[in-house]
Amino acid sequence: MSINSTSSEKFNRLENILIIGNGGRENSLAWAIQKNELVKKVYLIPGNAGSERLNKCERIKIDIKNTKDLVEKLNFLKIDLIVIGPEVPLANGLADVLRKNNFKVFGPGKDGAKLEYSKSWAKKFMQEANIPTAKFWKVNSLEEAKEIIDSSSIPLVVKADGLASGKGVFIPDSKDECFKAAESIFNGKFGDSGNVLVLEEKIEGPEVSVFALCDGEKYILLPTAQDHKRLNEEDKGPNTGGMGAYSPAPLLTEDSLDIITKEIIEPTINELNKKNIDYRGVIYFGLMITKTGAKVIEYNCRFGDPECQTIMPLMDKDFVFLLEKCAMGKLTGYEKIDTNDKVSGCVIATSKGYPQAYKTGFPIKIGRIESNDCQIFDSGTSFNEKGELLTAGGRVLSIVCQEKNFDMVFEKAYKNLKEINFEGIYYRNDIGHQVRKKSSKEI
Ligand code: AMP
Ligand code: GLY
Repeated sequence: MSINSTSSEKFNRLENILIIGNGGRENSLAWAIQKNELVKKVYLIPGNAGSERLNKCERIKIDIKNTKDLVEKLNFLKIDLIVIGPEVPLANGLADVLRKNNFKVFGPGKDGAKLEYSKSWAKKFMQEANIPTAKFWKVNSLEEAKEIIDSSSIPLVVKADGLASGKGVFIPDSKDECFKAAESIFNGKFGDSGNVLVLEEKIEGPEVSVFALCDGEKYILLPTAQDHKRLNEEDKGPNTGGMGAYSPAPLLTEDSLDIITKEIIEPTINELNKKNIDYRGVIYFGLMITKTGAKVIEYNCRFGDPECQTIMPLMDKDFVFLLEKCAMGKLTGYEKIDTNDKVSGCVIATSKGYPQAYKTGFPIKIGRIESNDCQIFDSGTSFNEKGELLTAGGRVLSIVCQEKNFDMVFEKAYKNLKEINFEGIYYRNDIGHQVRKKSSKEI
């Protein structure tokens, strides 16, 4: 990455960085940030066991809801930049509190996080800015939902309005199922997140994730990515948080990305400005490439996971400057990201049973892992009293590799994944099938 017209001298101290969150996403951000020689320490609240293997990284135990203690601690540690990973603290306004206390924060305030925490608000936002998206109805009661479902001549998708840990979207096969999904949401399946719901036209096409780092006014795009949401090979089975990803996504040519920029990305940022929302963080555009062009499926106010784990190794040591520029409102918009012509792929290993019930606490054995362009990022791990690494989540860890092409990437990823073992380990063998020439049986 070469950051034109800037150099580290123009920036303030960047010795102590704080990352909030406990997943693979946050570990990959920490890994990318620590590469810069100006960075002395990367703190994670709370991080996970994998954070402790990362260079310069240290975990802090503190309740982020206790903002008085948090601010005191961060002042004591002389934190120079804060990166907030997950949507929940962003939706709760943590970035606002920290900014008020004079910290530089990468992550939108509560107003910007509304793009993710209220689907009906986001849909209206898109409508007002003429941004292509599926048709929708904001619904306040089951009676209203029934009326719309009964009279609809097109298949519908049902979504809880608020945050639901990625579980609030239903894709029913019949009107009856559609009604049942609406009923379960209004019956409190997602608590207050389901006080309102959105019915949406069901659209079709491959999905792709686009990430814009934004400083409130200007933006730059990271390499695009595609993740695999379904649990099983051939993209079958239940939806998960993501079983693997690759970046960049060849599906988006330079021309199509230009159109997306004009029709979706710039209108989104302009609309945020129109609404006086000073958005300093990443906007994650979940897009569906339909026969009639790209449409926004959803906005998120954070990095995607596993996309972030996949993209971070393509960033060079100046990545931390980009985050700082966003936090300070100082992007030029002309920064260039040089990925060294490499592509990246990530395969997630999960606990048996995920995304439904699963057991944790199994010891993890890690054998010989290549050190060159190959990373392990932990998503759900912990230590026992003896200091042994244990499984502690549904998504446990991932192998991320970079090479000149996707065949080489996934050959390397699967070879290294064989060096990792825990009881019930499960992963898909066909991650990146869209971009691999060799089938999973050939590697
Ligand atoms: P979301 O939580 O909004 O990302 O939705 C989860 C998944 O549901 C998306 O990744 C899509 O695969 C699917 N989905 C959401 N909205 C629609 C829609 N309007 N039409 C078809 N599929 C959808
Ligand atoms: N990879 C999907 C998400 O982070 O929401």
